[in-house]
Amino acid sequence: MFDFDRIIERRGTHSSKWDQIARLSGIEAPDAIPMWVADMDFAAPPGVTEAMKAEVDRAVHGYYADTGSWAAALVDWMARRHGLTLNPSWVSPTPGIVSGLGLILQAVTAPGDEVVVFPPAYHAFRKIILANERRILDVPLVEIEGRYSMDLDLLRDKVTTRTKVVFFCSPHNPGGTAWSADETRALASFCADRDLILVSDEIHCDLVFAGAKHIPTMSAAPEIADRLITCVAATKTFNLAGAHVGACIVSNPALKKRLDARIAASGLGSYNAFGMAATEAAWRTGAAWLDALMPYLAGNRDIFDKRIEAAVPGARSMHLDGTYLAWVDFSGTGLPPEDVADRVATGARIFASPGSQFGPGGERWLRFNFATPRPILDDAMTRLEAAFQDLRAGR
Ligand SMILES: Cc1ncc(COP(=O)(O)O)c(C=O)c1O
Repeated sequence: MFDFDRIIERRGTHSSKWDQIARLSGIEAPDAIPMWVADMDFAAPPGVTEAMKAEVDRAVHGYYADTGSWAAALVDWMARRHGLTLNPSWVSPTPGIVSGLGLILQAVTAPGDEVVVFPPAYHAFRKIILANERRILDVPLVEIEGRYSMDLDLLRDKVTTRTKVVFFCSPHNPGGTAWSADETRALASFCADRDLILVSDEIHCDLVFAGAKHIPTMSAAPEIADRLITCVAATKTFNLAGAHVGACIVSNPALKKRLDARIAASGLGSYNAFGMAATEAAWRTGAAWLDALMPYLAGNRDIFDKRIEAAVPGARSMHLDGTYLAWVDFSGTGLPPEDVADRVATGARIFASPGSQFGPGGERWLRFNFATPRPILDDAMTRLEAAFQDLRAGR
């Protein structure tokens, strides 16, 4: 019903992923494969394309009226997929999650305040904190038997009176960890004890594989709802990153008022009609597409993990509960990180995300986006096998 094997040419389409390879990575080869930024090479759900076509056919592109149907679609989706009961009045649309994070920082912190991050963590957390002249308080994750864990004792030691916010990524990027209810509750309880605002970025919540489960922070720790801001979006789930629409969900009216004041102060209280139409259609019509996508992505994950570990002696791909971003530890190869990077970039002509981007603990890792049609994935794996071939020769 959905052809995820179909290759859609994205070069020359203003695709950040495909059209910025040379500029951002220095890889000049015309056949380079981008496995960096988190968007997929698949067509969006048909219902999204129909909604966009209706906009185009009407050919009048005036200001968007928020009649409440968008938040209603989000609320229905969260109820159906995650068993959450949300009130539409808790929802504030933002032009993407990262801009929402910046607005949150402006609403609840002052310059110089500290924001907790659990690295290795999504690199834009770091950028938006620094761009807002706040400080990063790194509390590195600990890897236990191949899975990440938060070190709350270390967090307790590091928190100061200037610490105001925690950026929690659930499921985690990179590493794909779906946090347990106990883990989330322990963090939430810490935030309550230390009077911190907990920001739960759940953009990857729908991209969790069979056998694992996403537990929204709102469900795991309802007792801290007053200090919780949850960020969600249809853009990662349905491959609509260019739509640049996300939402902050805040049930505490006073906290929401502060956030909405920042949204208003930035002139962001009126929304992009194309983004709103695309994301609403995705929530309303995209379930079957997503249900077909997940096994396809699980297949790609399994192919990627098996082939990278066979191709590169000593490399280890973290088992993902969710996300389509393989997280590979090259420290066991004995190769210097520059050598690994050069083999991938120059040898295989693949643009992967350098692990150092994700902060402390990522230095010996690379992140590979495998959300691409299988023929492209197969080509990438064959190139990686060739780029590390000499390491296997003597085995
Ligand atoms: C954890 C996380 N948050 C936010 C984003 C991006 O959100 P947006 O494009 O809506 O700003 C990403 C994209 O990869 C992500 O991984």
